[in-house]
Amino acid sequence: MTIDGPILVTGGTGTLGSVVVRRLRDAGRPVRVLSRRPRPADVAPDLDWATGDLTTGSGLDFALDGVAAVIHAASDPRTGGADVEAAERLLAAARAGRPHLVYVSIVGVDRVPLGYYRQKLAVERLVERSEAPWTIQRITQFHPLIRTSMRAAARLPVVPVPSGTSFQPIDVPEAAAHLIRIADGPALGRAPDLGGPQVRDTVDLARAYLRSRGMRRPVVPVRLPGAVWRGYREGGHLAPDHLGGGRTWEEFLTGEKP
Ligand SMILES: NC(=O)c1ccc[n+]([C@@H]2O[C@H](COP(=O)([O-])OP(=O)(O)OC[C@H]3O[C@@H](n4cnc5c(N)ncnc54)[C@H](OP(=O)(O)O)[C@@H]3O)[C@@H](O)[C@H]2O)c1
Repeated sequence: MTIDGPILVTGGTGTLGSVVVRRLRDAGRPVRVLSRRPRPADVAPDLDWATGDLTTGSGLDFALDGVAAVIHAASDPRTGGADVEAAERLLAAARAGRPHLVYVSIVGVDRVPLGYYRQKLAVERLVERSEAPWTIQRITQFHPLIRTSMRAAARLPVVPVPSGTSFQPIDVPEAAAHLIRIADGPALGRAPDLGGPQVRDTVDLARAYLRSRGMRRPVVPVRLPGAVWRGYREGGHLAPDHLGGGRTWEEFLTGEKP
């Protein structure tokens, strides 16, 4: 099924959103990007671009005008609470047209007590109360996020990783394709979690990263204190019952430039 009308992608310039936008365009689908930035000179002239800011509300009425669905992938983890205000503004602007709102959340926002996850959970609660049709899609960590952590740790002569933890990284194109399928379908409410194809011990992920970069360094598991890391050790952020498709960690590492 394909919905009739454009899909607005908030965060359409970000890691996930830019891939959603590219896939929609490759399929010849109408898509609109919401970004705080003015339209860059190098984007395709036929790409529908809405400059707006979810924190102030500027440009949102124009961005939402006539859209059939919204994939809400904008987020700013650095600004405590801003995602909640942003969601309030987005939901208010969506009231008139009632597009299907697909909110991109994270597996375990209710189980790992990280500040950013609390914000995301609060946004989920707002979305659940929305009058427009909605779907909340929780997803496990994207490959580039794990790679960024590994890259930073691998700068040290001995590579520290959190002990007793695993991750289930997912390929961004896989997540993007799934979100488009969701946006095209009926509102699901809280959708089943979406996870990467493998649950992997962090030591194992680090070793694979080092191998892919031709680096030989010892990996040292370190027990990290606090409730957040306890939540990760308990696997609150994993979806082992929802092993998905897409590239594995090794396939991702091989397929990109170091
Ligand atoms: N990274 C992960 O591993 C992961 C895993 C599961 C779920 N998620 C969720 O997936 C979503 C996308 O993550 P990502 O890693 O792709 O994010 P990202 O690369 O950091 O991109 C964030 C986007 O948000 C936009 N944005 C930020 N503040 C905004 C504002 N006030 N108004 C309008 N746009 C704003 C930015 O656009 P401009 O700068 O162009 O304005 C940017 O495109 C997030 O909700 C995240 O929580 C992430």
